[in-house]
This record gives sequence, structure tokens and C-alpha cells, in this order.
Amino acid sequence: MIEKYINTVAQGDNLELFKDIPSDSIDIAFADPPFNLKKKYNSYKDRLEFKEYLNWCKKWIFEMVRVTKPTGSIFLHNIPKWLTYYASFLNEIADFKHWISWDAPTAPMGKSLQPSHYGILFYAKDMSQNKFYEIRYPHKRCRKCGYLLKDYGGKKGGLHPFGPLVSDVWTDIHRIKHNKYRDKHPCQLPIHLLERIILMATDEHDIVLDPFSGTGTSAVAAKRLGRKYIGFDIDEHYVKISENHLLQENPVSKIGEIWVSSYLDELITIRDKDWEGLSHFFNLPVKSTLTDSTKISLRKDVQQIAFDFGFHDKENTLKITNCEYCNAQTADDE
Ligand SMILES: C[S@@+](CC[C@H](N)C(=O)[O-])C[C@H]1O[C@@H](n2cnc3c(N)ncnc32)[C@H](O)[C@@H]1O
Repeated sequence: MIEKYINTVAQGDNLELFKDIPSDSIDIAFADPPFNLKKKYNSYKDRLEFKEYLNWCKKWIFEMVRVTKPTGSIFLHNIPKWLTYYASFLNEIADFKHWISWDAPTAPMGKSLQPSHYGILFYAKDMSQNKFYEIRYPHKRCRKCGYLLKDYGGKKGGLHPFGPLVSDVWTDIHRIKHNKYRDKHPCQLPIHLLERIILMATDEHDIVLDPFSGTGTSAVAAKRLGRKYIGFDIDEHYVKISENHLLQENPVSKIGEIWVSSYLDELITIRDKDWEGLSHFFNLPVKSTLTDSTKISLRKDVQQIAFDFGFHDKENTLKITNCEYCNAQTADDE
């Protein structure tokens, strides 16, 4: 039965659709449910009673765990308030791995402790068998002078040329701010957020299931990365939007034979184990101690193969002294 859902976004109530998905059959389940915050969806009414909302959540969370393979992972995105309940329920049926804090700032609203992060619960169906890959993100650099923002002191010789391992606090992925990048949907996630999760927890051809697929963000991310997808959404209009997106997508998010995640013309996430293969495609600093002042760029002769991403060759070594913006003192203090 699962075959008819592979690489589709199905319209319907996910609790009904889950009945067609066998136990232990998918690689990761990701859910971004309505947050019960009275958001204006096309058809779904986002205002349930407290207990009603949580009872409903328990049902689909149970289904997500059921359909996930023993090697697989479950990801739940929500505000901290609801995640505390989700975690206490999930702790009974799966293995806790991480609480990822996705820092997605909002404008100050005149209240202290205004929520400015979302949480992503990361559970393994079975910790002893869980599939997981270490991932890296690019060094954060001053927007003006390009110098590293973090002071690594005397350790800069040992810096990874691409960037650090990703921690459980994600500050480098922004919510979709501009209308030109979003559909008519109140809470669409950025595609590269899903790509990071997919690179971390799946292999090529694995199956990603999203029971609240919205406009198909997780499906698009999966398709770009050569994974299979199954999406469910109750709203016909959102399913149509997803299908239109998916028609235009291809599994192209790679450099050479290596799957990567990018946004605009920057790589956003790579797997640690892929760096050796990827490094040949880049202009790297001549000395490792120059990592702080040298932003790596894709080699000119390989830009053709990565052209789908729109990567551009960039001025490589940054020459700046006394940046007023970030206070970097010198680009090469060797
Ligand atoms: C927060 S949005 C998901 C947005 C999605 N992550 C994206 O990036 O587009 C929640 C979605 O759940 C859908 N939904 C609500 N109740 C549902 C149900 N019982 N079964 C399937 N989908 C449902 C809504 O139509 C809405 O699109």
C-alpha cells in the first residue's frame, strides 16, 4: 500500500492516511503541526481546547513513531510550550536524542521573554540502531569585511576550512521573510532547514514522511537531495501548491556526486564525512591559519557543474584592517 504514496503529497486527514503506511517502513518522520495559535489556514481551524489539542497530537505522534524504521528518526517542530508535552509522551515510546533550538527572531513586541526560538525535538526510534551523520555549517563572518566573527584565539590553525560542526542551537537559518519567497500559507518553513535535517538523518533514496506537509517544503527538500518523500495535508489548495513546486524540482542539490544544502549562492549544510571529497572543488587558503580571513569559494572550473545553484566565484582572501563593523583588526596577523 505504501507504494502509491511514495513521491506524492496526499490530501486528507493524516490519521486516516497513516492507516495505509506499514509499521517500520519510513526513514524519517518530520512534523510541523499547527501550533494552536489561531493562525489563519485555508481550511484547518487552529483553535482547539488545550486537552483536545494534546490528545490529537498524541495520536499522530504515536503514528509517526510506529511507521518509522528502527534505524530511523522522528522530528517534531513546535513552540516550547507544546514540545514539553510532546517530549513527555515521546519519552515513553522512543529515545530522546536532542532538543534543537532554532533561533528565529521576531520583532520585540513590548514584552520580556518574548518567544524567539522554536524547538525541534529529535528522537531515535531505537538509539542503538539510529542512522546519524555529523554535519557542518559555514563559518560566520562579518558581512562587511568577511573576517570570522568568533574569536578562536590561538586555535585558528586547527579550524575546519568549511566551518564548525552544527550544535543544537541553530542561528544561521532564517525564517522566510520576503513574500516573493513564500506561498499563500501562514507558516511555511525554509527548505534548507529541512535539508539540514535530511542530510543529518538519511541516505540517498531513503523515505521522508511529513504528515503536515503544508506547501510541500519537506517534499521539495527530499526531492532536491535525491530522497523519496510522502506528504499529507488536509487542505486541497496546499496540496496543489506542493504538486506545482515538485514538478519544477529535480535532484540537483549536489556538487560532483555529493549531496549538499545551499541557500542563494552559499552552502548551508554539508556532511562532515563528505568534506574530503568536497574540498577538491574549492579554492582553499594556502595556510590553514588563514581560515579566519579567507572565505572559501567554489573553483572556477567546477562552477559549471554547480551552476544550478548559482554559485559565483568570489574574491577569495579578504584584505581588511580595522573593520569598524566587527572590530576585526587585521586579515593576516601571521
Ligand atoms: C504549520 S503548517 C505546515 C507547514 C509546512 N511545514 C510548510 O513548510 O509548508 C500545518 C499544516 O497542517 C495541515 N493540517 C492540519 N490538520 C491536518 C490533518 N488532520 N491532517 C493533515 N494535515 C493537516 C494544515 O493544512 C497546514 O498546512
